[in-house]
Amino acid sequence: MSASIRNLDDLLAEGVSGRRVLVRADLNVPLDKQTGEITDDGRIRAVLPTLGALVQAGAKVVVCSHLGRPKGAPDPQYSLRPVAGRLGELIDAPVHFATDTVGESARATVDALTDGQVALLENLRFNKGETSKDDTERGAFADQLAAFGEAYVDDAFGAVHRKHASVHDVPARLPHVAGRLVLREVEVLSRLTGEPERPYVVVLGGSKVSDKLAVIEALLPKVDRLLIGGGMCFTFLKAQGHEVGTSLLEEEMVETCGNLLSRAEGKILLPVDVVAADAFAPDAAHDTVPADGIPSHRLGLDIGPETVAGFTAALSQAKTVFWNGPMGVFEMPAFANGTRGVAEAITKTDAFTVVGGGDSAAAVRALGLDESSFGHISTGGGASLEYLEGKTLPGIAALEN
Ligand code: 3PG
Ligand code: MG
Repeated sequence: MSASIRNLDDLLAEGVSGRRVLVRADLNVPLDKQTGEITDDGRIRAVLPTLGALVQAGAKVVVCSHLGRPKGAPDPQYSLRPVAGRLGELIDAPVHFATDTVGESARATVDALTDGQVALLENLRFNKGETSKDDTERGAFADQLAAFGEAYVDDAFGAVHRKHASVHDVPARLPHVAGRLVLREVEVLSRLTGEPERPYVVVLGGSKVSDKLAVIEALLPKVDRLLIGGGMCFTFLKAQGHEVGTSLLEEEMVETCGNLLSRAEGKILLPVDVVAADAFAPDAAHDTVPADGIPSHRLGLDIGPETVAGFTAALSQAKTVFWNGPMGVFEMPAFANGTRGVAEAITKTDAFTVVGGGDSAAAVRALGLDESSFGHISTGGGASLEYLEGKTLPGIAALEN
């Protein structure tokens, strides 16, 4: 990380006992649609090193985060209350929950904190100012948030690519440092943008090429191999002249994918077989078919075993691996083998391996894979991709000033 950025140790060295420290975390965890329960608490656990250090040092810790994409007003389905409960279990101490973000409840909750206690404010995005494009509106909200801290810690790596009040404008108002998670994420990802050990193999999946276009462009000159699976592989297969049945297809991206393939000098590896199903359903009839033989009435929902074998061979040579995006609809067991196979291949290399993205990280845990067999599992999806694209990230830039 840039030498001009101070980190948590610098703040701790100044002494934080009795001081209010505002921590921006990314506690945007997936919730079960029916029960509202947290289905993966990885992002909560990821911020524990920072929170634990501040608690130990006797700070009054005020945590804030977004969850989901509410539209600037309170919306109970996006409340952080369940997160406060889970955080309390993990730190083994009560987490004082404020039912608003900068209102009466928040003020009372923050005022009542004693040394070493933790408060969590309600969802930042219940306030229009958080995500506003208007600097004045964002600034006014940032003023209210900043009033809760004497220092600011950014540990929300998953949100550093957002120019939001809590990420971009609060650090302009308070002494600011990077938390342990942000520091580690940036250290790891900078190994990939610097001089990665070769072969450097990147695996990309997920549904849309349009989302990944910028990162593919940025990575192509850097990587030795780019393996493409997931929903977005069908637009590439189409660009190769294959029929893809009713598979996910971005018609307007076919030409772009064709250009990428011709510029890639053979670095891009596409599926040679896919699991094609009658419908997007867990119990749909399905078969493995060659990638150039998808029946017109079927859609591809996973990469096939021959593809997994080819990807595994490429990965086994690698010295550096970055993986973002599932290879198929891994939430349905019939279409999880591609993602599982690639994930297992990654764990078996002796490469430095990085998993980027909320979905891929959740896939690793949902498939019961051992997290410790990966070099690093990033908490950021969009953030890690934009970092690899070489973009300026508003949250990191704000810490530099
Ligand atoms: C994420 O889940 O990618 C981060 O929490 C950022 O959320 P956002 O994409 O809604 O800004
Ligand atoms: Mg996202």
